[in-house]
Amino acid sequence: MNCLISAGPTREWIDPVRFLSNPSSGKMGYALARAAVDRGMQVTLVSGPTALKAPAGAEVLFVETAREMQEAMSQRFAKADLIIMSAAVSDHRPETRSKQKQKKEQMRMTLDLVANPDILMELGKQKKNGQTLVGFAAETENLLPNARRKLREKNLDWIVANDVSEKDRGFQSDFNKISLLSKEQNEMDFEYQEKNSLARKIMDILCP
Ligand code: C5P
Repeated sequence: MNCLISAGPTREWIDPVRFLSNPSSGKMGYALARAAVDRGMQVTLVSGPTALKAPAGAEVLFVETAREMQEAMSQRFAKADLIIMSAAVSDHRPETRSKQKQKKEQMRMTLDLVANPDILMELGKQKKNGQTLVGFAAETENLLPNARRKLREKNLDWIVANDVSEKDRGFQSDFNKISLLSKEQNEMDFEYQEKNSLARKIMDILCP
């Protein structure tokens, strides 16, 4: 079984010394990659910049921007049976990326942004029979309604919903509290626990 997982943040460069990003540590995606390797899957991990050790036994492709992540994911998508998009993709990027460091005295105080591609939405459109597509919904409010809407709009089979408004879970933490929702409208709540242990439980359900 071929498993393709994305993890971590993306970086959207303003100039060679500045970027837009988010606090994603990549821990959940890396834990999922390790759990998939442990189950004997062929694992490709497409990772944004993180401080984590590459999971042993997985092929790891490092990317920085959302567009690089999209290219890496779509190149490997057709061969994958299970695709998990756990990366925190930056929704926007600066319209222009300056080649030289901008002098602070000369910088404009407004940043013109353009939308990044929604990688998961695009993968959802290409999904074939036999492929299982899983997304994440990181929310600070209305967690389950938002997760259900994303599951439907992005043509997913499963979505992992997690609340990122608390300090002791989600972004950066080794712990998380999640619900797993399926397109058949199954909804499972998991106890607050380590991401490593959650990753194994998620894999048990996705690939029984
Ligand atoms: O719509 P929202 O960003 O909350 O959706 C989250 C899900 O979509 C995550 O699985 C994330 O990896 C994915 N995503 C994406 N490309 C984007 C934004 C989010 O693949 N530009």
